[in-house]
Order: sequence, then structure tokens, then C-alpha cells
Amino acid sequence: MKVDTFLVERFMDAYENDVELNLAETCVDPFTLGEFLSLTGREAFFEELKGVQLTYGSIEGSLNLRRELANLYETVTPENILVAGGAIGANFLVFYSFVEPQDTVISIFPAYQQLYSVAKSLGANVKLLSLREDNKWLPDVDKLAELVDDRTKLIVINNPHNPTGSLIDTDLLKKICSIAEEAGAYLLCDESYRGLYVDQKDFVPSAVDLSKNAIVTGSFSKAFSLTGLRLGWIASNTKIIEECRRHRDYTTISNGMIDDSLAALAVKHADRIYARSLKIIRTNHQILSRYIENEPLISWIPSRAGSIAFLRYNLELSSEDLCVRLIKDKGTFLVPGSCFGMEGFLRIGYGCKTEVLEAGLSRFKDFLNSYH
Ligand SMILES: Cc1ncc(COP(=O)(O)O)c(C=O)c1O
Repeated sequence: MKVDTFLVERFMDAYENDVELNLAETCVDPFTLGEFLSLTGREAFFEELKGVQLTYGSIEGSLNLRRELANLYETVTPENILVAGGAIGANFLVFYSFVEPQDTVISIFPAYQQLYSVAKSLGANVKLLSLREDNKWLPDVDKLAELVDDRTKLIVINNPHNPTGSLIDTDLLKKICSIAEEAGAYLLCDESYRGLYVDQKDFVPSAVDLSKNAIVTGSFSKAFSLTGLRLGWIASNTKIIEECRRHRDYTTISNGMIDDSLAALAVKHADRIYARSLKIIRTNHQILSRYIENEPLISWIPSRAGSIAFLRYNLELSSEDLCVRLIKDKGTFLVPGSCFGMEGFLRIGYGCKTEVLEAGLSRFKDFLNSYH
């Protein structure tokens, strides 16, 4: 089976473990176990688990976890949820369950590469819907409608969006849902960064609460800051969930029981965890905004949601060269736009600890000054 190299993963893997200041990460500062248990008031958690037998556990994710996850939506019940190995496992399962050779799959671009490369590897005709900077990195619905053909099986979007931090608002999301419905296609909306709004007035419903054709995926890695659990989920109507479950039997059996219990605890205390995450991203977004205002070589469409932003730079240097030199000279890690097929850009993650962001930006400034 042929598949394109997942460029961002290869670049992260090459550098992330040794770098001093990591501004490439997409997660909101992951918890230590101690911090997490203390925030949720469950310091005795592991003591309480001592009597639990380590079996396979529940196949589709415990009822407790699926009940908690259903509460994150308006119209979803535990039967509409399937737990997976991260949002990456959830997305993969959706492609594996529905995409066949010769299907048309329309995906936004740039994007988290999994969202178009897996469908291509399964033999689909992948059409890319370009997101443009002059349209605030948002999908153009007229262009989307033009791409639809009578073989369109799946339309793929990501809201909030990696790598730009753009946010599809309710009206636009409803229009995209209508296009999928009219085409008789599924709409996969990767909502891994859901809820991380920079402006507290913002709110966008989940696509699953807007359309019967929607399949949404979620993650414990980003807003929940529990990346090490490696859990995510799919939410959709019961027919779609059943199809995903049939395919999942060949890849998963079940996820880890302890991870499942920790994840259920997290969703139960989602309010507290979101308050922590929002504080981090809003503080850091202000710092990043101020930095960019004062940095003539960098411009951006300010990210509206999530924990990442896409920066345009004005230097005669490829994005990969820039990032590798920045790592070697200044111990600071950004992701080259080339990993997203977008030369002249850099992705920055601002979900890290504030002191890491400040130190990294200060070194980035020195680095840019040395090129003046
Ligand atoms: C858009 C998007 N989807 C999915 C994932 C994978 O997330 P997880 O850690 O839940 O597997 C990522 C991780 O960066 C992402 O950015």
C-alpha cells in the first residue's frame, strides 16, 4: 500500500526530543499526572484502581466515558460515540470505513496531512479545496460546490484549523453541511481543537449537532492537555458509528482501561480543564500578537482558535532551512510551512508554557535580526 510521507511527523520526530524551546507543539501544555489528579480532586485515583482487573475492558470505550463525551454535544448519546486511539486513530477509522477506490474525497488544503493523504492511499480521487490567506484561511463555499461531483463520498474539514488557527463560524459551517447533504456525501469535521476560542465571545456548534451527514472527531491531546493518554473519539449517527465499529474490530479490540478511566475523569471536569487551557492560550495569544506587531519580517492572519498560528516571513530562505538554522543557532523549534506544502510560512504553537513562548520568541527575534 503506497502512502505519502507524513511530513510534519517526520520533521517533529527529527528534532522535538532534543530541542530546548519547543514552539512547534500543537497541544495545550500537557498535564503532569499529579497536576491532573489534583485539579480533578482525585489524588487517590491510582489507589482506588488497585482492585481493577486489567482485562480488555469495554470494546467501544466504557459507557462512563461515552456518557461524559456525549455531554460535550447537544444531540449526541453514548451510542453515537466510539473511542479511538487519538484523533489520528479516529480519523483513520473514518477513512478506512468509508473511502473506496474511485470515490471523490474533497479535503481542505493546507491541512493536517492525514486529512488528505490517507484517502489518496486508499485509491480515492482527492480534490483539494485551497484555503487562501486573503480569505482568512477559510473554505470558499462556491469553490467547494464546484468541486463536488456525483462520486463525492466525503468532504473533509478541520475546525478550528491546523495549521492556521482559522475558525469556521456557524453560518459557514451550516453552508458546508448543506453542500454535503445535497451531494449525499459524508462530512468529516476534525474538531480536535474544539473549544479553544481566543475571543471569549466566540462559540461554534459541533458539526454533528448541525447535520445527519456529519462525522466529527475529537481529541484528548489539545484542549484536554492529556496527550499521553493517546485517546480520541468519533461522534456521529448510530449507522455510521456501527460501520466504524465493524472496521475498528480489525485494528483496536479496545483502548487501555486506565487511559479510559482517566479520560472519563477529565471530561467530567471539562469546565476546570478548559478554564486552564483558555487561560494559557489567551495569555499566550496576546504575547504572540504583540511580538508580531513589532516584528517587520513577520505577518499573519491572527489565529482565532486552537493553539497554533501560521506566520508569513519575509526572508530569502526556505522554510526548512530557516527552521533548521533556528534550531541549531538558537535551540528554538518551529515547523516549516513546507511540511504543509506552503513555502514562505512557519507554524508556531502557542499552547506551551508562557515562559517557553517568551524565551522562544526572544531568540527568534535575535535570529531574524541577524538576517537584516
Ligand atoms: C487536526 C488534527 N487532527 C488530529 C490530530 C491528532 O491528534 P491526537 O493526538 O488526538 O491523535 C492532530 C494532531 O496534531 C491534529 O492537528
